[in-house]
Order: sequence, then structure tokens, then C-alpha cells
Amino acid sequence: MGNETKSSRPPGFQTLDDALVLTRAEMIENHRKFGNPGLVQLLGLAGYDQLFVRASGVEVWDADGNRYLDFLGGYGALNVGHNHPRVVAALDKVKEYPNLLQAGISPIVSSLLRDLALLTPGELQHTFLCNSGAEAVEGALKLARAATGRTRIIYCQGGFHGKTLGALSVTGRPQYQKPFEPLLPGCEAVPFGDLAALEQAFGRGEKPAAFIVEPIQGEGGVIIPPDGYLRGVRELCSRHGVVMIVDEVQTGFGRTGTLFACQAEDVVPDVMCLSKSLGGGVMPIGAFITTPALWQKAFGGVEKSRLHTSTFGGNTRAAAAALAALEVIVDEDLPSQAREKGEYFLGRLRLLQQEFPLIKEVRGRGLLIGIEFHSETGLLGKVTAGVADRLAQEYLASLVSAQLFRQYRVICAYTLNNPNVIRLEPPLVVTYEQIDYVVDSLREALSTYRNAAGFALGTARQVVSGWLKRGK
Ligand SMILES: Cc1ncc(COP(=O)(O)O)c(C=O)c1O
Repeated sequence: MGNETKSSRPPGFQTLDDALVLTRAEMIENHRKFGNPGLVQLLGLAGYDQLFVRASGVEVWDADGNRYLDFLGGYGALNVGHNHPRVVAALDKVKEYPNLLQAGISPIVSSLLRDLALLTPGELQHTFLCNSGAEAVEGALKLARAATGRTRIIYCQGGFHGKTLGALSVTGRPQYQKPFEPLLPGCEAVPFGDLAALEQAFGRGEKPAAFIVEPIQGEGGVIIPPDGYLRGVRELCSRHGVVMIVDEVQTGFGRTGTLFACQAEDVVPDVMCLSKSLGGGVMPIGAFITTPALWQKAFGGVEKSRLHTSTFGGNTRAAAAALAALEVIVDEDLPSQAREKGEYFLGRLRLLQQEFPLIKEVRGRGLLIGIEFHSETGLLGKVTAGVADRLAQEYLASLVSAQLFRQYRVICAYTLNNPNVIRLEPPLVVTYEQIDYVVDSLREALSTYRNAAGFALGTARQVVSGWLKRGK
């Protein structure tokens, strides 16, 4: 009585309850009208615009009850799988805690900070919590600048560190950078895996503040550098006094068979960027962790303690999900699982490569796996003045992944910086049976594609002989 307020919902306003019963068509229409129509179209082409309503572990279900296997794994954010019960329970345990309270420090965050220091190698000790991979990279770049008083940043061609302005400035794909130029000044790309080029860059012009690198380039097409590269980078950075930032956003938390990929070479960076699976596949969270010395230089003391902040960074629920995710990763020894299952998966895929010349290379470490397809179509490319080459380059991997999805209900995708590579990075809790199913599906899909390519080549031959006849 008296206190009842009249809702001012405009006509057509949809509540969460409305959203939970939308049809697929209504969902698509909302996205198309009010979101990113081009992206909806692209997802639709591959058939990815399904109404997914449930997920658990490696499995996802659509509203019609069809089951899919997720071998994309949230681009590396789902190492513990979808909706891991311990992560979901963690959110329940803290549901009455204040989630956001800027005026205070939290016991949950305090334990997360401690665990991250314990689990990361060497002297990495002080963590800043944020909300995404790109933000972790932004923070790391700022830290390097503030700690050294220098500005130059060296990064790798083909590398991917996110799409915010600073992270984009060190993301080695000109196609993503061009529309937003000028980007951060003083950022310079060197070839990935090339220590001589790095040393040259260090010696040229103003001394760099930092070198940022992924231990394995994920979006670049699952590119593994030569053995000893990361150790060489460590040595060069130490010798030149350059801050070594290792971006473990995608490779971290067991993905490549060790808790962090840099541990495969016993390398301890000065700064490590983390995100994705840190949130247990449920909450967005990112972090960068650094040594006491660098922290002190950049953010030490009361005065500098608020130089870099984030409203949502270190909120209770994200931190609780992260603590639970770390528990699962350690208790279930997910790094070992990734190593063993990855070897099995790679072995089976390499056999497939022998069967299908269309596959140029199978590569990976742990459960970060890429299958690269041949991008040149040879004769067909010449006949079509490169059109077929371009099509093959841009679309072959997406055609195969779309077929895997439509026909076999396997979710996977091509890598962002290298569209001719299919990337397979399932949750680390994937079963051998699920791996077998995906390999068998791929074999069937490639069999049909081999025929299609043969057909195209046959058509090209006819065109060429027609030209030759006309030329006579
Ligand atoms: C290595 C690496 N760094 C940074 C990012 C950016 O993360 P986010 O998309 O959360 O900004 C990604 C995303 O794929 C990544 O793979």
C-alpha cells in the first residue's frame, strides 16, 4: 500500500524471463537489429547461430535437445569445462558477500593473490586483477613504461594480445590495426622465433621498455617457436635491461601440458599476463603478475598505488570462481591431462595428415592444436588469376570447421590471425572417446572435401584446355 511504483518499462522491453523463452528467430533478430549484424551473418553462414541452452564439461545442447562437442573451448577460457560444479558452487558460497565494495579489501581476493604468487614461477609475486586478457596486457605495458621510464615496446609479427588500443598496438596483424591508426607510438614488430632480429631491435634507437611475447602463438595459427627461443628471449631481455612480458592468456593454466607454457623451458618472465581459464569458464577475469622490484618501481608506495585501477577488477564472484578454477586445475592435475591427451590427439591427427594431402601441417603442444591446410591451389590458382588461392586461403579452414559443426555437431574455429588454420582446444577434461569422435568426423568431412577439390581441379583442367585451343 502506498509504496507500489508503476513500472516504466517501454513497450517491447524484455526481461530475463522473456530472454529465457525467446525463439531462435527472435534471438537472431535482436542481435541483427541491436547488435553486430555483420557478425550475426558470419556466424549464420557457419550455422553457429543456434539457440544454445545448456552446457556441461565438453558438451553443449541446443533448444531442440541436440548435443554438440565444444572443441573451441571458449578460445582457451574453458580449461575446466563448461559450468564445472566446483566453480558453480564457489559462486553460491559467496552469494551473500558484497560483490563490489571499493572501500575495502577482500579475504577471497587475498587468497587468490596468494595462490597466483605460489603457482606462477620464480619471483612473480604481485598481482593486479582486471577483467579480460586485453586489460591484462594494457596493465603490463603500462607497468613496463612506468617502471623503466621508457616508451618503446617490441612485439611479434603474427602475435595476438587483444583489441583495445594499447593491446592492438602490439598485436601483429596489420588488418586489425590499420583502421585504428595511429596506434601507440614506439611499437615495433619483429619476426616470432627470431632471436637475431630481436637483438637487432634491442640495439636500434632508444632502448625498449619491454618485449611482449606469447610462448606459443595461439591466434597466429598455433605457431610453436624453435626450441630454446623463450630462454634466448630471457637472456636477451636480462642483458639489455628490457622487461620481458609473457602473455599466457591463452596458453596458461595447463593448456599446453605445463601449468604455464613458459615453464616448459624453465623461463621466468618479469611480467606474466593471465585471463581466460582463470575465470573457470564462468566469470570474466584477467591479471598481470610481476616481481616485487618492478611492482615497487611502477606502483610502489601510497602515492602510486592508484595509478592503475579497475572498478570491477577483483570483484568477489570473479575471484571466487578463479580460486575454484585453480583448485580444479591443481587437484585434477589438468596440465598432465593436457599433455597426455594432447599427445594422443596429435598422434591421431598426424595419421590423418598422411591420408589427406590437403592437410599441410598438424602442430601443437598439449591441447592447443592447429591443423593448417594448403592455401595454394596450384593450377586452379593460376587459371583463376589467384581468386581460387584467395578463396582457399580465407575459407578452407572455415569450410571444414562449418562442415564439422553442421554434420557432426563439433564446435571448432579457425585462428584469428591465420584463417587457414583450424584450432582445436577442447576443455582439458575432454575424454579419449570424444577425441576419437572428432578425429573420425574430421576424416569423413575431409573425404567429402577431397572430392570437391578434385572436382574443382577437373573443372580447371577443362578451362585451361579450352584456352589453349582458343589460343591456337
Ligand atoms: C594471447 C592472448 N592475449 C590476449 C588476448 C585478449 O584477451 P581478451 O579477448 O580477453 O581481451 C587473447 C585473446 O584471444 C589471447 O589469445
